[in-house]
Amino acid sequence: MALKITVIGTGYLGATHAAAMAELGFEVLGLDVVPEKIETLQRGEVPMYEPGLRELLGKHVAGIEGSSGRLRFTTDFAEVAAFGDVHFLCVNTPQKHGEYACDMSYVDSALASLAPHLTGPALVVGKSTVPVGSADRLAAYLAEHAPAGDGAELAWNPEFLREGFAVEDTLHPDRLVVGVRSERAERLLREVYATPIEEGSPFVVTDFPTAELVKTAANSFLATKISFINAMAEVCEAAGGDVAKLAEAIGYDDRIGKKFLRAGIGFGGGCLPKDIRAFMARAGELGADQALTFLREIDSVNMRQRGRMVELTRQALGGGPFLGKRVAVLGATFKPDSDDVRDSPALNVAGQVHLQGAQVTVYDPKGMENARRLFPTLGYADSALEAVRGADVVLHLTEWREFRELDPEVLGEAAAARVILDGRNALDPALWRKAGWTYRAMGRPTA
Ligand code: UDX
Repeated sequence: MALKITVIGTGYLGATHAAAMAELGFEVLGLDVVPEKIETLQRGEVPMYEPGLRELLGKHVAGIEGSSGRLRFTTDFAEVAAFGDVHFLCVNTPQKHGEYACDMSYVDSALASLAPHLTGPALVVGKSTVPVGSADRLAAYLAEHAPAGDGAELAWNPEFLREGFAVEDTLHPDRLVVGVRSERAERLLREVYATPIEEGSPFVVTDFPTAELVKTAANSFLATKISFINAMAEVCEAAGGDVAKLAEAIGYDDRIGKKFLRAGIGFGGGCLPKDIRAFMARAGELGADQALTFLREIDSVNMRQRGRMVELTRQALGGGPFLGKRVAVLGATFKPDSDDVRDSPALNVAGQVHLQGAQVTVYDPKGMENARRLFPTLGYADSALEAVRGADVVLHLTEWREFRELDPEVLGEAAAARVILDGRNALDPALWRKAGWTYRAMGRPTA
């Protein structure tokens, strides 16, 4: 008989995972402790913008006309325990207030709610990003609290999905990593992921700590790549070089690779910043803090770029105070194809310039609502053109396709001055210059 799957926590990761599991053919029951989230999902809606996710939910959520009916939702842990053979833990692990460490309370409470109901054989699979050592601890908890005893087992299966590509990354992962302690756990997970495995996704079997570390190591590496190129951008600024050319040239070496070498205002979002900090905190607890001190530098190179963008803006406005200046900001989300503004470098720069006295008007294709909620004192416009109207300088801070397709001529007529600063190195300088704009990008003082 086909496995039945439950997904505990229906945020970004969980909602996507639940829909993907239904797409793979399984009967799925999703659980969240927030009833409003469940009501939204039951209507086939998603509380965030993620390409393809709404369509996938509509295809499978029970009660929606024409759906497979394979995906249902509940708030009841007893129902989840009775239903599922495999339970995925997909709750979030945010950064603790005032600390680098990550907050495990949602993971702990999800397992505490589930375990007492596990009376028969079950595999609990953690997907959340957790400090190394957590799976060990949670396995001991499960053994003690599940009435099924040995029948209830834990596995760790980190998630690597990117916002904006969450559906694609979940259905066609570039690798599957499973930390397991038994052949049974491995067999069950091979069954869950039979389709992507058949399609060629590598399946890497490890112990618990390695599986947990793969996730934090991968994110640390990505963060390091971005901060590396941003450090090179700083040197290019000082030496009169061009970081975009430099990135292209080193990227041809396939040991280096050209991806994640776009210099600019740096990384943000709900993952990379908090994950590298939690990793440092955990290494400290383990007595291995020296091994990760470089991540402190990665973090500070990254945070510095935001301030550098503010200074470039000041220079572009003549070097004096911001007071009375009008600044247009294109982009509020931490990356394109997302409505997520968590730790967004774009919004951070917009906020800094605004707090120093400039009149800032922001436009973003999908992030307006979230940006307004987080930063209600900024000005907002309904289009790029409206944001730019009357501006003394335009800042391009999130690399949406829409911004690359703007007509510099049309924008030029609306702006008070034709000055654009590219904080993402994503616009075509020749195009803007042709329309009479002064174009300046980070790490390319002369380009
Ligand atoms: C990241 C990881 O990529 C993903 O595997 C993990 O599961 C979660 O964290 P995500 O947070 O969606 O995913 O964003 P990502 O695409 O990695 O981008 C992170 C940030 O880096 C964005 O702010 C982006 O603008 C920035 N970035 C990316 C750069 O500044 N330069 C680059 O070259 C690439």
